[in-house]
Amino acid sequence: MQSLDFPESFVWGAGTSAYQIEGAWDEDGKGESIWDRFSHSPGTIEDSSTGDVACDHYHRWREDIALMKRLGLKAYRFSISWPRIIPAGRGKPNQAGLDFYSRLVDGLLDAGVEPFVTLYHWDLPVALQDEGGWVVRSTTEAFVEYADVVSRCLGDRVKNWTTHNEPWTVVFLGHQLGIHPPGVQDLSTALKVGHHLLLSHGWAVPALRRNSPGAEVGIVTTVVPVYDTRNKEHKRRAGVALDGSLNRWYLDPLYGRGYPADMVTDHIANGGLPREGPTFVESGDYDAIAAPIDFLGVNYYCPAVLRDSGAGPPEGTASHLQNLERTDIGWDIYPDGLYDVLCRVHFEYRPGKIHVTENGAAYSDGPGNDGHVGDERRIKYLRQHLGAVHRAIEAGVPVAGYFAWTLMDNFEWTKGYSQRFGLVWVDFETQERIPKDSALWYKQVIEGNGITEGGV
Ligand code: GCO
Repeated sequence: MQSLDFPESFVWGAGTSAYQIEGAWDEDGKGESIWDRFSHSPGTIEDSSTGDVACDHYHRWREDIALMKRLGLKAYRFSISWPRIIPAGRGKPNQAGLDFYSRLVDGLLDAGVEPFVTLYHWDLPVALQDEGGWVVRSTTEAFVEYADVVSRCLGDRVKNWTTHNEPWTVVFLGHQLGIHPPGVQDLSTALKVGHHLLLSHGWAVPALRRNSPGAEVGIVTTVVPVYDTRNKEHKRRAGVALDGSLNRWYLDPLYGRGYPADMVTDHIANGGLPREGPTFVESGDYDAIAAPIDFLGVNYYCPAVLRDSGAGPPEGTASHLQNLERTDIGWDIYPDGLYDVLCRVHFEYRPGKIHVTENGAAYSDGPGNDGHVGDERRIKYLRQHLGAVHRAIEAGVPVAGYFAWTLMDNFEWTKGYSQRFGLVWVDFETQERIPKDSALWYKQVIEGNGITEGGV
């Protein structure tokens, strides 16, 4: 095996999000979030579970920091629960919530682990949803107020901030497909929601800069490479539109181009937008959304491969895309896709700095009789994807960090606890944590600042 060295300052991390790990859903003055309400409604989560307890991280954070230290993590990406900080969405902050994150940040810094904070990983306060949620423009102002409160408390110590995690997921899964809260199925609502998410990002950037001098500020988007293996022209247009709705609809406005014209035309045709176009855009919005940021966070798991269905040979020639292996959640494994998205984002949008903020695999491997968790398939996945990151760096893409998703098995949204993405195994009955082989492998990668020959 070849040895791959990473740049000296490369940030090696792992990520989590508040609702997926914290538990303590109604403790110490926390308000209800839309994920609390959703998971408490019958029929929403495949295994009928909730995040009420999850990894109980709210109570076990010291132990979890010790685990991070043991694994040699240089950075930890986590999100803040908005309703823990401002239970009613706007107005009076909850000191107990601020204290929790303040202690967490201090603990991380003491352990030599750099905190990367995400402000919004989908757990909107229900109080704001009851006013209309992201579809109403005033939620944008509430978000800025929340960003201000959090950064005034943590801004002296947190040096890396991201506003939102994956606006596309909130837009598409939450408001178009309706399989995430608030469970809306309406394209025109979804587009408005997307605009308010982006606007709230742009408006929060100055608040973060003011309260956290010298910090780096960014946003996390999913970037999905779309490979169209079909060669009929009318189908190709659908591939371009898929790329438009997954990627360009967010990246274009973030980088000062407004909404892509071809997509605006499509949305007028499909009823998502009125004939006049995106009437929810007010004067100054595009400038606000394009507020200069220091880095872009890219989440990558798998590509979208458009194949011909039905019998017979595929029309396209991309045979390497035809029979991909899959992880246990059913997602295609295609490490070159990560290389492709990193290059694309760099050459098309020039973000200046990129962090791979999520990448990982769901595999169910658990402890054998000796208590040890052998998850070779995850090691292979991580090794291949880190290889793709390394190639991108060699091609001149400024990738500055990589955050494995995820530190420990947790509540995987509508899949409940059925999908395990963790480097660390969690026994959800006893809350015991066992580092899997992949965690020990990752520790060696971090220690060696790369993948070394003869390494695991
Ligand atoms: C995401 C979410 C994570 C998921 C992960 C696996 O960004 O989609 O940030 O919370 O758990 O992606 O589905």
